[in-house]
Amino acid sequence: MKMWNKCWAVVTLVTFVIAGYTHANDCVPREFTYGIVCVCNATYCDDTPDSNPRIPENGTLYWYVSSKSGLRLNLSQARFNSCKASSDTPVLTVDPSKRYQTIFGFGGAFTDATGMNIRNLSQAAQDQIMRTYYGRNGSRYSLGRIPIGGTDFSTRPYTYDDSPGDVSLQYFSLAPEDYNYKIPFIKRAIELNPDVKLFSAAWTAPPWMKVNDQINGLFGFLERRYYGIYVDYLIKFLKEYKKHGIDMWGISTGNEPINAFMPFDRLNVMAWTPGTVSEWVADYAGPMLEKSEFNGINILLLDDQRFELPWVDEIVFRNPKAKHYISGTAVHWYFDRFFPSSILDKTHDLSPDKFILMTEACTGYKSQDNPKVALGSWERGQEYVLSIIEYMNHWGIGWVDWNLVLNKAGGPTWINNNVDSPIIVNPETDEFFKQPMYYALKHFSRFVERGSVRIDLNNNLSNVESTAFVTPSNEVVVVLYNRNNKEEDVVLKDPNNGSVCLKLLPYSINTIIYAQ
Ligand SMILES: *[C@@H]1O[C@H](CO)[C@@H](O)[C@H](O)[C@H]1NC(C)=O
Ligand SMILES: *[C@@H]1O[C@H](CO)[C@@H](O)[C@H](O)[C@H]1NC(C)=O
Ligand SMILES: *[C@@H]1O[C@H](CO)[C@@H](O)[C@H](O)[C@H]1NC(C)=O
Ligand SMILES: *[C@@H]1O[C@H](CO)[C@@H](O)[C@H](O)[C@H]1NC(C)=O
Ligand SMILES: *[C@@H]1O[C@H](CO)[C@@H](O)[C@H](O)[C@H]1NC(C)=O
Ligand SMILES: *[C@@H]1O[C@H](CO)[C@@H](O)[C@H](O)[C@H]1NC(C)=O
Ligand SMILES: *[C@@H]1O[C@H](CO)[C@@H](O)[C@H](O)[C@H]1NC(C)=O
Repeated sequence: MKMWNKCWAVVTLVTFVIAGYTHANDCVPREFTYGIVCVCNATYCDDTPDSNPRIPENGTLYWYVSSKSGLRLNLSQARFNSCKASSDTPVLTVDPSKRYQTIFGFGGAFTDATGMNIRNLSQAAQDQIMRTYYGRNGSRYSLGRIPIGGTDFSTRPYTYDDSPGDVSLQYFSLAPEDYNYKIPFIKRAIELNPDVKLFSAAWTAPPWMKVNDQINGLFGFLERRYYGIYVDYLIKFLKEYKKHGIDMWGISTGNEPINAFMPFDRLNVMAWTPGTVSEWVADYAGPMLEKSEFNGINILLLDDQRFELPWVDEIVFRNPKAKHYISGTAVHWYFDRFFPSSILDKTHDLSPDKFILMTEACTGYKSQDNPKVALGSWERGQEYVLSIIEYMNHWGIGWVDWNLVLNKAGGPTWINNNVDSPIIVNPETDEFFKQPMYYALKHFSRFVERGSVRIDLNNNLSNVESTAFVTPSNEVVVVLYNRNNKEEDVVLKDPNNGSVCLKLLPYSINTIIYAQ
């Protein structure tokens, strides 16, 4: 090779490496009718590795931006005390000395549908999905919700013992769905994040234990004579999963019992009233779990809509034994737009030692939501970010998504209850699409690690929603959402560090990190 040829080769190589390095983690955008998704495949997926240095240097902060215009966790830096804002620029003041709840984490649900959709991709693409959710360079999810048996996001109705009258539970067994679609992916999540905490929920007891002998339907209460046998059933599930190295941090009293009071609802469901559930926890689930090898597992009450609060807690906690066994309240987001967040404050004030965890949310569930999967919809990402900020500012210790992964129809679901998901697979091209909802959650989950504490942030702006934390390694994390269609100039002020001017892009999520 001639000398100049060699030089050219080196220059080309260097250019390629530099370009490759700076853009190694960028979103590969694709535009659909509703907006932009980031495309991942077997060999490529945008990610968010630690910055260098990991913690911004003295006097500077890191600023990650995602926007409707197409930025996805775009990292830049800003300096404290380097700008002069006009006196009428609104000031948001962080007060790290005023502390609220400790954050437990963020995550999603390992439904049958999730596993089926992941399995529809190549092995390498499957692992990209797991890493982009649970990996250090991904969303760093720290929570996972595990359905006990089938849900509406299964392809058939089933429980772990569908043999009528099997009171000795001799025919109890996990389903093929557990082995094919749940356990392998849960184990991978544990490998990727050994600190992941898992909690489970049954949608219903086996039909033969219920007064209506059905998997769904109106008023399907658990028969009183099976109160103890149902706990045996749940303990058998915990044992089977433990055999696979999957330990549960928590178990709820059951998913959305309110659906058993809705005529024509086809969801797998079992009815509880506050009275029956408190008796079951106080006299069966609580003491039986305590005596089992699962002593110490956290029992989560409600696992249902927040309009049932605080009255369900109020009634259940009147039974001191039930109150003793319950660690916290699990809340779903589905009717939140009609019911104020002050309900969460009241629930917290009623028993401040019981946590509040948001355990299920998705978009595309309303009858008017058409299509069910709106690829690239920023509005749906915005719904996520606004809800997360709201739960954080009202005592929530975490926020857990519904299906981690769905297909383009928002399924599969045996009752055609199709909805949207942050990750949608496209098996035809062995690709998957990361929607704005994925980034909305990641703006929190990637940065607000377990043990972070929410701190005060004084903000009287109506167009900018905000929340703030201090992490265990003493970094301040501020999340700001500009819900306006134009730029917003704000000053972020920390009494210890001074001020920084920020121009918030229209419809942008901003995560700001600095040493405290
Ligand atoms: C995977 O995505 C990357 C980045 O967009 C692209 O360069 C590569 O060709 C894709 N691979 C396949 C098999 O499509
Ligand atoms: C994260 O990304 C960095 C930079 O690309 C890479 O060096 C590191 O190995 C990745 N870490 C993990 C856990 O994937
Ligand atoms: C950080 O910067 C401030 C002013 O820019 C300076 O007063 C202080 O000494 C610096 N602290 C450290 C640890 O470098
Ligand atoms: C903020 O102030 C604290 C306390 O003086 C200091 O330790 C920290 O490094 C400062 N952070 C920045 C970003 O300058
Ligand atoms: C994105 O980040 C780069 C630095 O990595 C910065 O120069 C650029 O201004 C950012 N873009 C926007 C629109 O904030
Ligand atoms: C998996 O992909 C095939 C087509 O590639 C499709 O027929 C099938 O329905 C998909 N499975 C799910 C669960 O979506
Ligand atoms: C917000 O606070 C500023 C002072 O920081 C004040 O001038 C302004 O009137 C307040 N706006 C509202 C809507 O309360």
